[in-house]
Amino acid sequence: MAASYIIDTSSIEKEGSEADRLISLTSLQGSSLPAIMEAVDKAWKLASSGVHGMALRSPLEMMGFEHSQMDVILDMVLTRKRTRQKYIDGSDLFFTSEGLRWATPEIAAEHCARRLAGPQVVDVTCGQGGQVLSLSKVSDRVIAVDIDPLNCLVALMNCISRKISNVTIVNGDCFDHVPIGMAEEGCAIFCDPARPPVSVRRELSEMVPDPRKVLRSYGDIAAGSCFEVPPYISMDKVDFRCEAEYVSIEGRLNRLNLYTGNLYVCERSAVLLPGGEVLKGIPGSALVDRPITGERVGCYAYEVDPSVVRSDLTSQLVAGMGEHVSVHGLDGRRVLLVSNERIDHPFLKQGYRILAAGVPDRDLNTTLIMLGAGKVTLRYGIDPEEYWKVRLGLEENLNGRKKVQLFKAGGYLVLEKMEDRGI
Ligand SMILES: C[S@@+](CC[C@H](N)C(=O)[O-])C[C@H]1O[C@@H](n2cnc3c(N)ncnc32)[C@H](O)[C@@H]1O
Repeated sequence: MAASYIIDTSSIEKEGSEADRLISLTSLQGSSLPAIMEAVDKAWKLASSGVHGMALRSPLEMMGFEHSQMDVILDMVLTRKRTRQKYIDGSDLFFTSEGLRWATPEIAAEHCARRLAGPQVVDVTCGQGGQVLSLSKVSDRVIAVDIDPLNCLVALMNCISRKISNVTIVNGDCFDHVPIGMAEEGCAIFCDPARPPVSVRRELSEMVPDPRKVLRSYGDIAAGSCFEVPPYISMDKVDFRCEAEYVSIEGRLNRLNLYTGNLYVCERSAVLLPGGEVLKGIPGSALVDRPITGERVGCYAYEVDPSVVRSDLTSQLVAGMGEHVSVHGLDGRRVLLVSNERIDHPFLKQGYRILAAGVPDRDLNTTLIMLGAGKVTLRYGIDPEEYWKVRLGLEENLNGRKKVQLFKAGGYLVLEKMEDRGI
């Protein structure tokens, strides 16, 4: 497929006919860019003032839109409400529901854009422009490529809405000679490939486009690349040299960025957002399998941020913390750090007081009663269908006031949350 449409946001007035050609490839055909943007904005104002459903169609009909056009416009209107979940002030942005679903959240996009900043960045899978908005703030020029004409059109609308003038949008296959020809020597490549809704093999070959094919096409031109892939991808199956950066947002693992070329800093890194704290190093497990025993009652337990667990940087984290700290892997996903002193570290999430440890199944009920427990949150791998049955079964014998957290580390581990994060 030939790369057909190139639109430079610095001369959008002159590029009107090019935008019309792009529109003609979508279900919005027959309309114009200003009319579509105005319709979304007007219908959004009506929706915000309480007008809903079918009542939103008649004003659009009066503006001359046909049913197929209205479906896309109304989808963008209804999606705008949710845009603010990903973009701090997203009420001026345009996304379809599908586009927003795949868009990089602003907080992650800003972090990545800072690492890629330079004279030119080529976003080879720009979608509806989520990442482009951030790249355009810190790089001199952004080439934004997408194979889908509607995505390119919506990305263009977002650039216009944010008055961005340093982006060139290219509708076409990123492997076509046109976008490849626009990449300048020494540029940075950003690629957030499409992925299957359910991953079977958890490997790069499921990504569209496959990052390795992007590397083959742009590798000789670009100084470095960043591939944004799901964090479940196994690094054992990544067969090119790269830094694996695991990013968590508000304590939840969000994404894995693979950096190559001059963007490579170290083998593994873990990043906390929004704070921006970074842990770098070489992967190597520091997990201690021995159970947490009763001797540790009264000590403190801390949940290690998932970006550290997934990047296998736990040993890096505890280096220099002293002998009073031990590390315990619980179920592959969770790691607890136990210490007889309070620890203040950004990569430690919640802090707990250890109330009981090594409790066997048969003693669990009496232990919970003795501790004055009333509510029990189960924090070990349990079938979601079983969760409430087990929890209510435990709680029916309890009449205390304490809310406890139940982990499994050898026997049961009963913890109480420290409200102040425990530091
Ligand atoms: C996950 S989305 C990108 C979202 C984007 N980062 C954002 O923040 O909005 C992946 C995009 O890759 C595009 N894509 C897939 N194969 C492509 C190809 N060969 N060339 C260009 N774009 C492609 C899809 O159309 C889709 O819009």
